[in-house]
Order: sequence, then structure tokens, then C-alpha cells
Amino acid sequence: MSKSYPFIKVQPPGPKAKELLKKDQRYISPSSAKAYPLMVKRANGVMVEDVDGNRYLDFTAGIAVANTGHCHPKVVDAVTRQAKELLHMSGADFYNPLQIELAERLDTICPGPSPKRVFFSNSGAESVEAAIKLVRHHTKRPYLIAFINAFHGRTMGALSLTGSKSIQRKGFAPLLPGVVHVPYAYCYRCAYGLTYPQCNTACVSWIEEELFATYLPAEEVAAVFVEPIQGEGGYIVPPKEFLQGLESLCKRYGIMLVADEVQSGMGRTGKMLAIEHFGVVSDIVCLAKGIASGLPLGATVAGNKIMEWPPGAHASTFGGNPVSCRAALATIDVLQGGLIEHAAKMGSYLLNELKNIHSSHRLIGEVRGKGLMIAVEMVEDKETKKRAREERNRVVEKAFMKGLLLLDCGRSAIRFCPSLTILKKDVDKALAIFDESLTEVEKGVR
Ligand SMILES: Cc1ncc(COP(=O)(O)O)c(C=O)c1O
Repeated sequence: MSKSYPFIKVQPPGPKAKELLKKDQRYISPSSAKAYPLMVKRANGVMVEDVDGNRYLDFTAGIAVANTGHCHPKVVDAVTRQAKELLHMSGADFYNPLQIELAERLDTICPGPSPKRVFFSNSGAESVEAAIKLVRHHTKRPYLIAFINAFHGRTMGALSLTGSKSIQRKGFAPLLPGVVHVPYAYCYRCAYGLTYPQCNTACVSWIEEELFATYLPAEEVAAVFVEPIQGEGGYIVPPKEFLQGLESLCKRYGIMLVADEVQSGMGRTGKMLAIEHFGVVSDIVCLAKGIASGLPLGATVAGNKIMEWPPGAHASTFGGNPVSCRAALATIDVLQGGLIEHAAKMGSYLLNELKNIHSSHRLIGEVRGKGLMIAVEMVEDKETKKRAREERNRVVEKAFMKGLLLLDCGRSAIRFCPSLTILKKDVDKALAIFDESLTEVEKGVR
């Protein structure tokens, strides 16, 4: 498909999209908050086409999933061949050679000593659920530490760790008992009144000096769940010292460190896993999203000695489905064939270009990120740093109308997470549309 993009043929949502939106309202659960009325028909590479024939430049990669680009030919070929051979024969009861092959690859991809073992599931939330059960089972301890602003999924266990938007938790209590939320680096409400860079390890010291001393017995904590770079919470990159401090805190008290790499993993940040940027080795890694280029797959990877649970302790009918495993193997081949280095290069280019336009836009408060996990924080005023949520939403909507797909993250940020295959010419197109949309919102153009 070599059609040009972006190409807006009819103002979205077009007539076909409008018809379908009515039906969606009638038949689909309204619980997911859609960004804008994009009714997708097909996608290829970094181009997404809607049902009315509009073509968009996709800077969302289907929420950081299509890391190899939509419908990468090698992934499609692997999926097609596998679909003809075996669609399903549950890993919950039978052995599956593709799971073994993929687990072997994940063993080498995830930092830390081999051998490791893998539990396969279908999604990010399920990979976190498995980790919650595993750390409790392994340590025989009840408590879990998670971070304010974290996102780990929406099933009841994962939701109990999630702390990025209260609407996600509202109406669902009581959640899992024993979860304690603590501040993440750059929380802007430091218990010690510190700001960056003095706050680098303050959040970690606070856990040890205050939380463990007054409220939470350290020897009863099973695990700390952390996103090496917070995703839904705003693409927040913590200082190295923060994650390294957590790693040593966990070691001191026999606590498992769980890295939720569901969004930041699989090459997204310019390295296979984001924790590699920080020189940290976690006990468990949770993967999903980009692992199979769009097919449902979750993986919880842990050292052999940690994943020592008996048959019957945990299983999934569909988890590690043969088609998803094939897609993941093809994805890893593509990622390791130079794509991660390319993503690092494109990420630096995009980050620098966004930083270059920082001063010419009053609404840009901060530009941050690693690799192709980049966010622009929108503020009403650079001095007060008051969040510009409304304006953020208008910029995202305007960009959509002009053919650029962006997403929000955090309370007032816009995320840029295109496929890792993105080329400089497409980054330039996206920058031009973003700049134009931002300028119009700043001028009050409706
Ligand atoms: C860091 C992180 N963990 C877990 C999840 C949940 O993944 P899923 O939506 O596949 O359940 C997400 C989804 O955005 C995520 O970003």
C-alpha cells in the first residue's frame, strides 16, 4: 500500500464512521475513554486508514503496540503460515514448542542471570496479575508497593497497583488488600520538599526511613512494582539513582523488584528493555503490548528459582497461543535486525526537534522521553507550570483533524510513540502538523 498520507478526504468522522459510531454507542461497552472518533479500517507501516478513506500518520502505534509498524510483512507472513498449521491447543494442558522457543529468546532478552522461566498470558494486565501471584507465592509475604501515577492494568489485581487516574478505580473498591502506593520520582509533592536533582533518591529513602519505620514492616513486603518509565502516568523518566536505589532497597530487605515493561519494553525506548538505560536488573519483567506486534500476548519473566510454583498454581487457556508466539518470534527478529538502533536515532531526532520548538510555544512546559517514548507536557504558563489539560485535548483533536494521530498521557501531556520503523520524513511531517495545531490552539483558533 503506497498511498500518500496524511490525506483527509472528508472531515472526520466521515459519513461511514458516523453510522458506525451510532452502532458502537448501541452495542459496545462505553467504559473505554476514546481519544477521538477514529474508525479504523486498515493500517500499514505508520499509516492508518479510516472507513471513509482518510489516511493518517500514526504517532500512537496503536498505543505503543505496533512497534514493527502496522502489518509488518515478516510478522504477517509468520502469522499466516502459523494459522494454517495450528491455531490453538491450550498451553494450560498441553505442551507447545513455540512457547519454548519464545521463552528461550526472552531469557536472553531480559537482563539478569539465566536460566529464567516465562509464564505466558494474553495482555499486560494479565502479565502483571501473574507477577502479583508469583511474588506472593515465592516470598510468602502479603504486601505490595506500587507508585502514585503508575499504570499496571485494569483487572482487579493489576488495578490495585494502578494509581494514575481515580476514575479507573472509582466504584470498584475494595481492591486487593496490602497494596501501598508511594511517590514516584518527579512527583512534584516531595515529602522532603525537594526538587530535581536533589530529589533523585529521596523517594527511595522515604520508603526506608519513614514508611518502613512507621507503617509497613519491610520484612512483610513481597514486591515493589515499578514502570522504569511511567507510561500512562505521563511518560515520566526517573533519574538513574531512583531505580538503582529501589534495586538496592529491594536487595537489602529480600523484596522482589518487578519491572513493568509492558509499554516501555520491546525496543520502545531505544533499548530492548527500558531498565537497561538505568543499569538495573529486576527479579521479574512483565511484557505485553509490542511483544507480538499487535497479537495478544503477555509474558511474565522470572528467574528459575522465583518461578517455582507447582502445577495448578496458575494457567491460561489462550496465553502463549501459537499464532501470538510466532508473531512474537518474528517481532524479535525484526527488532534485533537493527530496528532498535533506528528507533534510538529517530527518538533523539524527534526529542531534539521538539525541544527546539519549546521556547516558541507558550503552552509547552517540558519535553521529555527516551527513544520513541516521548511526551510534551502542556502548561498554561511556563512559570507556574499550571497544567493545560483543555488545551492539550484541543491540540490532540486538531492534529487528528489534520491527519496526525496522537494520544494524551498523564494529566496534561501529549505522547509521541510511533512505530519504531518511523522515518525522518514522517517525523518531519508530524512535527509540522503538531506545530500548526499547537499554534492554532495558542491563538484561540477553534
Ligand atoms: C505499563 C503498563 N502495564 C500494564 C498495562 C496493561 O496492559 P493491557 O491493556 O494489555 O492489559 C499497560 C497498558 O497500557 C501499561 O502501559
